[in-house]
Amino acid sequence: MDASSRKLLIFPIPSVYKPKRTVCEPTRFCCREIDLQQLSLETTPRFVLHFSLTRTDPGHSEFFREVALTALTRLSGRLYVISAYADQWALITGASSGIGAEFARRLASRGMHLILIARRKDLLEQLAVELHTAHGTKCEIIVSDLSDPAQPAAIAEEVARRQINVELLINNAGFGYVSEIETVDLPRVEEMIQVNITALTKLTYRFLGGMMQRGHGGVINTSSVAAFQPVAYMGAYAASKAYVLHFSEALWAEARESGVTVLALCPGPTRTDFFDVAGAKGWLTKKRSQSAEEVVRIAIRALEKKKQYVVCGWINYILSLAVRLANRRTVVRESMKFFRPAKAK
Ligand SMILES: NC(=O)c1ccc[n+]([C@@H]2O[C@H](COP(=O)([O-])OP(=O)(O)OC[C@H]3O[C@@H](n4cnc5c(N)ncnc54)[C@H](OP(=O)(O)O)[C@@H]3O)[C@@H](O)[C@H]2O)c1
Repeated sequence: MDASSRKLLIFPIPSVYKPKRTVCEPTRFCCREIDLQQLSLETTPRFVLHFSLTRTDPGHSEFFREVALTALTRLSGRLYVISAYADQWALITGASSGIGAEFARRLASRGMHLILIARRKDLLEQLAVELHTAHGTKCEIIVSDLSDPAQPAAIAEEVARRQINVELLINNAGFGYVSEIETVDLPRVEEMIQVNITALTKLTYRFLGGMMQRGHGGVINTSSVAAFQPVAYMGAYAASKAYVLHFSEALWAEARESGVTVLALCPGPTRTDFFDVAGAKGWLTKKRSQSAEEVVRIAIRALEKKKQYVVCGWINYILSLAVRLANRRTVVRESMKFFRPAKAK
């Protein structure tokens, strides 16, 4: 074994291990490129799993922790979505900041390689350097404005040209827009519908078919808690996220038999540039919010559990249920206080 090899001892396996007697010869799995598919309950000893993991770049504790969790997940016969994170490719739109950049960090720490997509090339390049330095991640950058209807097809062609199979697609690019009826900037609304709905739909269909043919893979589409209710002064945005939720859930049902899962991610208020971009600067300071790290952690856990949607945080979850039970008129009238422009108050 070369110097970059790492060993991981998982001892004992919590749900399986019943300590009665000592010592069983550890079984060794040499998992080149961490092919966890090779592991099965039959080949797993009762007491000890001993993985010898060989990687070209030195790993670190986060990486091994993730490998251990993935292995245990698989061995316990529970939820196993993508064939393995390590050395597989994820495509992330909106990777230049906020939740998308955090997805990139989290998946890179699991050994994934990344296709990073957004308009701000400088931020994508900085992120690629950061991830390559920290984890040896291969990053392909595609600078793309998803408000251009031709871009999803161009992205799919570019990915095919680079001969990459996308194992995990994260349609995260999106933005909000706060406005009143009288002063609405219609081109901005069209741009938002193009990015939040049309590009997401096209990219999903472009990559989902290949995943289903291969029999594994995942899609995470970033929706919002706004998907569960109409939101005054942000009507088109909330409706676009309702589309993402319903679209993703329908595909989840269609694809699940094939081994592919589709998750609608519904974050509540999250500390990113989102509200500044939407025209509600400072809005977050008055509200309860989550970090992008928390949102991404919840998303990946939900993907592994093959959930069709996840609302981030239990308060947000309860609110998402409450608005479904409440009178619709009350819900939408209450929503007026969230984003009413200052001069209209
Ligand atoms: N933050 C929240 O409270 C919250 C809550 C619920 C849902 N969400 C959703 O979470 C997703 C990520 O938002 P965020 O909170 O992380 O905000 P963010 O930091 O502003 O990130 C938005 C990302 O989308 C990209 N993007 C925007 N317009 C684009 C375009 N025309 N073409 C390509 N990429 C574009 C941006 O990249 P460039 O500007 O470099 O192109 C950026 O990377 C969005 O879909 C948003 O609707 C956010």
